Amino acid sequence: MCGIFGYIGSKDPLTVCLKGLEQLEYRGYDSTGIAGVIAGKIASYKEAGKISLLKQKINLRSLELAIGHTRWATHGKVSQENAHPHVDASQSIALVHNGIIENYSSLRDGLKRQGVLFASETDSEVIVQLVSSFYRGDLCKAVQQTLPLLHGAFAIALIHKDHPDQILVAARESPLAIGFDDEHTESIVSSDPNAFLGRAFNVLFLHDDEIACVQKGRVHLFDQKLVPIAKKIERFETDYQTPSKEGFEHFMLKEIYEQPKTIQNAMFGRADPNFEKFGFSEEEIKSFKNVWILGCGTSAHAGSIGAMYFEDLAKLPASCDIASEARYRDPILGPDTLVIGISQSGETADTLAAIREAKKQGCKILGICNVLHSTLTREATGSIFLKAGPEISVCSTKAFSSQLVVLNLLALHFAHVRGCLAPGEADSYLAELKKIPEQIQEVMQQAPTLQKLAKKYAHYHDFFFMGRRYMFRAAQEAALKLKEISYVNANGYPAGELKHGPLALVNPQLPIVAFCSNMKTQEKILSNLMEVKARGGPILAFAPKQLKEVAAVADDVVWLPSTLDELAPFASTIAGQLLAYFIAKEKGCDIDQPRNLAKSVTVE
Ligand code: F6R
Repeated sequence: MCGIFGYIGSKDPLTVCLKGLEQLEYRGYDSTGIAGVIAGKIASYKEAGKISLLKQKINLRSLELAIGHTRWATHGKVSQENAHPHVDASQSIALVHNGIIENYSSLRDGLKRQGVLFASETDSEVIVQLVSSFYRGDLCKAVQQTLPLLHGAFAIALIHKDHPDQILVAARESPLAIGFDDEHTESIVSSDPNAFLGRAFNVLFLHDDEIACVQKGRVHLFDQKLVPIAKKIERFETDYQTPSKEGFEHFMLKEIYEQPKTIQNAMFGRADPNFEKFGFSEEEIKSFKNVWILGCGTSAHAGSIGAMYFEDLAKLPASCDIASEARYRDPILGPDTLVIGISQSGETADTLAAIREAKKQGCKILGICNVLHSTLTREATGSIFLKAGPEISVCSTKAFSSQLVVLNLLALHFAHVRGCLAPGEADSYLAELKKIPEQIQEVMQQAPTLQKLAKKYAHYHDFFFMGRRYMFRAAQEAALKLKEISYVNANGYPAGELKHGPLALVNPQLPIVAFCSNMKTQEKILSNLMEVKARGGPILAFAPKQLKEVAAVADDVVWLPSTLDELAPFASTIAGQLLAYFIAKEKGCDIDQPRNLAKSVTVE
């Protein structure tokens, strides 16, 4: 994980670097630091804590260039020593690293035997010590000698006290973008080109084991043998806006409330059986025999619902797998499987690895993503954007509902192309879908009720969320929201599985949160509620208005708008987002940046 950033150019490197790091904080916020060269010496400053703390304390004036880092700890606890940049034992080279060096332990032992003293517990420090051990006046050469020794994934940026005119960068399986201006006065390196701060840049991306020597407005690129290479340069204009909470107490709440609008954005140009162009022809769509959706966390939950859309609407066999599992499976794949990679960030390491495996087996990849120019969209055959706007809160909310919209409309388009729709069916379905933004407003009007319920339920340590079919996935997603921001244990389960084990858990200290909006299984979920009630479990139900019977069995009910089963996940999960938000608030948690997490999971 982690974000790396570097700047060399006509502006103040420290100021630019701090701004760049703020844009990368979504990649980790355990610790942060900056290094540069001042008068022939490496100067660095780092802090265990967020960038706001670094900004208050850092006092490095007149840096000739700067590299910076925001960390999500993998190897070594969160501490100042383990924060990047790491400096070699001779205090000549500073390095920032994103990724994991899997063989760091043996490399470290080897260096220690040669008498090298280590200052941190990290895997990253071995890189700078190795480069230092090879350095004989040519930094590029020393980096080239180091790379073959490293196992794992990395994007690195290094500076040397004797070369204040260059930043050396290299990458393997981790994104690294280099940008320079037309006037050749400044260059930026970054884990994410969206951190280029709203200026027009010429951008190139490093591929595996390539090395670049970045100077003011110039880049020299080399392959693994240090042979100069040329590369496609893309023009990039980023839309830099300081994220604002716009009066909301947290980004999460703001993003929850944005959903009526972001859902409309996701529908725009797509709420039609013809959909928009997304890189696949009608012939290709007809040729697919099945769909395999890959994602992690919340995106995987959206993907699981998406798989049901493909089966229910387009009559196409579909499944969703968690990417970290899928990447090590050996599924039977080929050109007639459409693989969909779904990711808010487009940078999730496991999702990328899984789609790369599928690509090797001849599959075409469709990326569904919220971030323009992300790795997923660059590697996919075709892409669909969520158009939800930046999602700042680590806990994903608006991206999820936009993913549902896109998957829903895509499945409808497949149904249309494959001739599975009865006359008028698409129109009546779309009419229901277009009601969703308004129905969500109705859910939001229940925020005071949800806040009261949060006060009542916040003291419990464990929760059990359940539902059937579409509501099973909604239950899983709502449970994830709660555990992520409130640090309470919450399980999301198919209600039909209750008797096969989890019923043993039921007791007055375990609230059951039941999602009841799947009307096809309404009688079944009511029976499940009775079974829980008979055993003394408190019940909080989320139910559609027409399912009045719920009132007789549940302790508390949040009434939701009635809609089709396929569309019920919208209102249910958004009510779940609000419940999780208010419980986290009640418990005084850091809602936008929960402990131990990062917005973008760029390591395995
Ligand atoms: C949960 C959450 C995570 C992400 C997951 C995948 O609220 O945000 O579970 O959904 O890390 O991230 P993306 O969608 O960027 O691939």
